[in-house]
Amino acid sequence: MDLGIRDKVAIVTGGSSGIGRECAIDLAREGVKVAFVGRDQPRLQETLAMTRDAGTEGYAVTADLSNEEGCASAVEACISHYGTVDILVNVAGAAQPAPVLTMPAGAVQTGLDLKFFGYMRMAQLVAPYMQAKGWGRIVNVAGAAGSSPTTENMPTSLANITVMNLTHALSDALAGDGILVNVVCPGGVDTPRTHARYAARAEREGKPIEDVIAELGKDLPAGRIARADEVAKMVTFLSSEPCSYVFASAIYMDGGGRRATP
Ligand SMILES: NC(=O)c1ccc[n+]([C@@H]2O[C@H](COP(=O)([O-])OP(=O)(O)OC[C@H]3O[C@@H](n4cnc5c(N)ncnc54)[C@H](OP(=O)(O)O)[C@@H]3O)[C@@H](O)[C@H]2O)c1
Repeated sequence: MDLGIRDKVAIVTGGSSGIGRECAIDLAREGVKVAFVGRDQPRLQETLAMTRDAGTEGYAVTADLSNEEGCASAVEACISHYGTVDILVNVAGAAQPAPVLTMPAGAVQTGLDLKFFGYMRMAQLVAPYMQAKGWGRIVNVAGAAGSSPTTENMPTSLANITVMNLTHALSDALAGDGILVNVVCPGGVDTPRTHARYAARAEREGKPIEDVIAELGKDLPAGRIARADEVAKMVTFLSSEPCSYVFASAIYMDGGGRRATP
């Protein structure tokens, strides 16, 4: 399928690792010029080499997206390098689990600063460029945890549910301008961040990490957790021209784990 996005310009946040990095690489494979954002210079340089190998050299942008200045500087860097922006993929996130009975408010605030306010600001900053052309795609990566609160995951769960709400409101505001806004909600995905958690659990339980990862997926209809490149494929489709009638949708990529329609 021709995705019709060759030479379009994308900003991908969280591009130095995990799902965001795979999104940057997959869009580069489709000929998209990708400005990808993170804070870790060496890992951003690794992503740059990977986009080059994928066929379209990207542009590494260093910014902290948990504050207003960082978001503004990231968008400015993309505009001064590529002159415009057609696609925004919001991925950067890092909320930590915390037990609900003892978690400090700060644990929730940190998650919201980066994920809700960061995603919101990035969308607000890129929207005028897309509105001026009457074409745009915004894809938010939230998480299935947004509709599955547990005693341990409130900071993550809250951050994700706010992104789902934001997606709907942005979609309503921008649909008339030819801008499609959707959200992808992965379940478990093996990325550097989660891999470190799986490694700690393997150590605690005295078993190989492969066994821990297999156990996480064994009760899912899919029988396994996801790879980051599988999430990226969905993001690329939602960023594409043939994706022309998907509005305000939450696409669950949780291996069939959810037991209710969100
Ligand atoms: N992995 C999963 O199981 C899973 C499941 C559901 C949803 N998700 C969501 O998917 C997204 C990516 O997760 P991941 O597992 O791929 O994590 P990851 O490998 O740790 O990547 C997180 C990315 O976010 C960036 N980031 C973190 N804090 C930042 C900040 N203050 N400013 C700018 N960039 C920042 C990191 O870049 P730097 O470190 O360079 O700043 C990195 O590129 C998150 O939003 C997460 O909630 C993941």
